[in-house]
Amino acid sequence: MASWQKTQGRQHLPWQGTRDPYRIWLSEIMLQQTQVSTVIAYYQRFLARFPDIRSLAQASQDEVMPYWAGLGYYARARNLHRCAQAVCTDWGGQFPDNSRDIITLPGIGRSTAAAIAAFAHQERSPIMDGNVKRVFTRYFGIEGVTSERATEQLLWHTADEVLSAAPQDLDMTAYTQGLMDLGSQCCTRSRPACERCPLQQSCYARLHDRQNELPTPKKKKPSPERYCSMLVVNMAGHILLEQQPSPGIWGGLWSLPRFDSGDDLLSACHKWGTPDMPAQKMAGLSHVFTHFRLHIEPWYLSSDTPRIAEPLPNQRWVALDELHKAALPAPVRKILEGLFPARFAQADSD
Ligand code: ADE
Repeated sequence: MASWQKTQGRQHLPWQGTRDPYRIWLSEIMLQQTQVSTVIAYYQRFLARFPDIRSLAQASQDEVMPYWAGLGYYARARNLHRCAQAVCTDWGGQFPDNSRDIITLPGIGRSTAAAIAAFAHQERSPIMDGNVKRVFTRYFGIEGVTSERATEQLLWHTADEVLSAAPQDLDMTAYTQGLMDLGSQCCTRSRPACERCPLQQSCYARLHDRQNELPTPKKKKPSPERYCSMLVVNMAGHILLEQQPSPGIWGGLWSLPRFDSGDDLLSACHKWGTPDMPAQKMAGLSHVFTHFRLHIEPWYLSSDTPRIAEPLPNQRWVALDELHKAALPAPVRKILEGLFPARFAQADSD
């Protein structure tokens, strides 16, 4: 695996070739649930603004969130920030150097702790993320839904045994990265490229033609549908944004005011609008979360006359040319980008 990684695996990802635990930790957190191609730009922007763990610990959460906005799973960013503070207060600013201590930090589970320790310190601990689960279930013919406790325990036990049997001079960076690369590049969910796999000769799933049955599929419940309206209030070139409570799906981010009923939307239109400038309905959009699908019906309300009505304590006016810097959830960014494309084009070239 390690030698396959060195010749066939990915070599030039921005977080490779470093032993700096801060950079490794940041990349591993960003890469949870998010594809490499999406992470690269976020990783580089984040590091340019927060080059080391102290700069991150000293920032406020509001300063951090814009650098995560659009990546999803925002609890990761809140934990990242708490973790940086814990490393600075409890570990003197030095990231712990072994997985047993790393796992005690906020937002870091067993697999991520092992990956950080392997990449930064060559520690011999196995990883077991979604991609690696797929490799192991297929290679060893492990049945059962992988999120169930018994299956998960068997997977960890198997990964431990593999490492115990491996040569003492195993390169843990290459081995760990190799498992990740194999899972994402050969042993893919559908149509795996077995002909390119270094394990093809002894893989259970390939020998029994069961690649499509392993890992055992989870019985899927249809995801519930939710509906809401959002209101874009443009008051003399300022947009009303509302900070989302934390924890919550968009906790810490700045969203548009959201309404679950037509009556609430109507009262907000009365508060901010004038009878001669009714709100206009815009094209709807939907966004998929882990447990539900959200359908959004956006409305646009514009007025050149500043109103006396006060925003709520969790609301603020954001000038159009500051909008691109706000920590906006992806669908909110899409709505605002549709209305003010030039304000975001300018941001992309900043
Ligand atoms: N997914 C999780 N960690 C990764 C890494 N270090 N490289 C590529 N993909 C990953």
